[in-house]
Amino acid sequence: MTATPLKAQLPPGPKDMKVKQAMNMGYGLWDYLKKQQQEFGDYFTLRLPGQGPMVILSDPKAIKDVFSLKPEQYDASKTQLPMDVGEDNTVFLNQKEHQDSRKMIIPPLNTNRLKARAGVMHEIVTEHLNAWTVGDEFNIPRLVGDITLDVICYTVFNLREGDRKDTYKRLMLGWLLSACSDANFAIGSMIGAKRYRGILNKRYLKRTEKRDFGDGEKGLFPWKQAIDLKVQLADMIRQDIRAIRQRMDESETHMLSILARATDEKGNLLPEERVISETVGLLIGGHETSAATSAWFMLWLLKKPEVMQKIREEVKACIAQEGGFDPLKIAELPYLTACLNESQRLTPSAVGTVRWLTRDARIGDALIPAGACVFPCIYLTQRNKQVYGEDAEEYRPERWLEGNKFGPNEYFPFGGGRRACVGMNQARQQLRIIFAEFARRVAFDSVHSHTQEWPTPRQIGGQTEPEEGVLVTVTEVRPENTDFPANTIRQKAAHTA
Ligand code: HEM
Repeated sequence: MTATPLKAQLPPGPKDMKVKQAMNMGYGLWDYLKKQQQEFGDYFTLRLPGQGPMVILSDPKAIKDVFSLKPEQYDASKTQLPMDVGEDNTVFLNQKEHQDSRKMIIPPLNTNRLKARAGVMHEIVTEHLNAWTVGDEFNIPRLVGDITLDVICYTVFNLREGDRKDTYKRLMLGWLLSACSDANFAIGSMIGAKRYRGILNKRYLKRTEKRDFGDGEKGLFPWKQAIDLKVQLADMIRQDIRAIRQRMDESETHMLSILARATDEKGNLLPEERVISETVGLLIGGHETSAATSAWFMLWLLKKPEVMQKIREEVKACIAQEGGFDPLKIAELPYLTACLNESQRLTPSAVGTVRWLTRDARIGDALIPAGACVFPCIYLTQRNKQVYGEDAEEYRPERWLEGNKFGPNEYFPFGGGRRACVGMNQARQQLRIIFAEFARRVAFDSVHSHTQEWPTPRQIGGQTEPEEGVLVTVTEVRPENTDFPANTIRQKAAHTA
């Protein structure tokens, strides 16, 4: 064991120029991180433009210390997200404000609400699959992103169909794509994400005040379209907030209604801009993360058809036992759960999480100076041979079914501590339902099924995705009631009639 130094100092790291290190992080970053770990060990420092030094950690002891940091020991407003979500969004808040904000956004995502939504999540997936025919081509992250937007329209806005839903979907997707563009992320990393967010937010507020919605098209500057679409999207959310506040209907359970009716300590309703900020925050939190996670999961399944087949058998057995597709039971299936866990272990969508230190902190074997960012590296830690054994680099879902318990400092694709992802259960439930139906009803072909090569990982909107996504062609799509026991089909037919 290394003795902890007495004076705070940055662990060693590569000497390349900051721009070169940033390029390596943006493209092919997993190999880059592995290479640095081999050279410098479980603590090393990267230096990127527009921000302080970043200490990459893959020692579970260090991860535990980071997730146990006290709120006053770090500053979340320095988070390098160059998108205008609003500075008073939960992600950027600190200390008590942050805890209060989480208390507000967690109730709409609690277990009972999730259970109540599982049936509609399944309905949405079924609608998508029922519209497919043999020969259809999809890019998995974009497809799952589309399903996710339907789920968001329902869970956040209580919209299942109609023009308003279509407009919400168009604006949400347009804004996300434009705000997450490489150009916007490059500007953010050059001038600093916090500064860039500030500039974007000022323009957005000015344009909102003038009710200048723009044409929503691309312009000379990369931020133009993102601002247009944010102004338009926020205007729709604002109209909904006002309608909800007119009704004040306590029986409403969709997220926007809960946020719009939430009050602060003094009993005042939150400012409209604050509710808008949390709403678009949930959108960012839930969309690209699920899309990227699904891309990696699909890649594993395409390369391991025997795993896909076993999932199919497990889902079929559950249907036979329950007399139909029970989304809550399906979302708890052990093998399916193990397969998704294993995918998120080896190929997590977030490469790590961040905490910007406001004071020197003892982290594992190191004493890291104030001003640095400590980065629990999900990717490197979850491949640790001391934790996962000699086969740590292998995709083996069975490891989750053999009585192993991996701690929150050894497996953390959703981050950890006081800032752990609030949408984890919703995301897991949704992804398990989607993939259960893919396994049961669809056969896919893909170039990835015929090669053991892996695509290069690439950073998109802060998430890691396969370079070109995952292109698939539908070769078979089975009817909705395939595998249902005959008596339940008859009952369903009688009921419909
Ligand atoms: C597979 C899907 C998802 C993944 C992999 C994921 C991953 C993460 C990670 C790594 C963090 C940072 C945690 C930390 O700093 O320790 C985070 C935070 C967060 N996530 Fe997720 N997430 C997913 C889905 C969602 C969904 C569906 C929502 C909303 C419905 C959501 C909302 C949030 C929010 C609001 C935060 C900030 C929490 C805070 O700062 O206190 N996420 N997520």
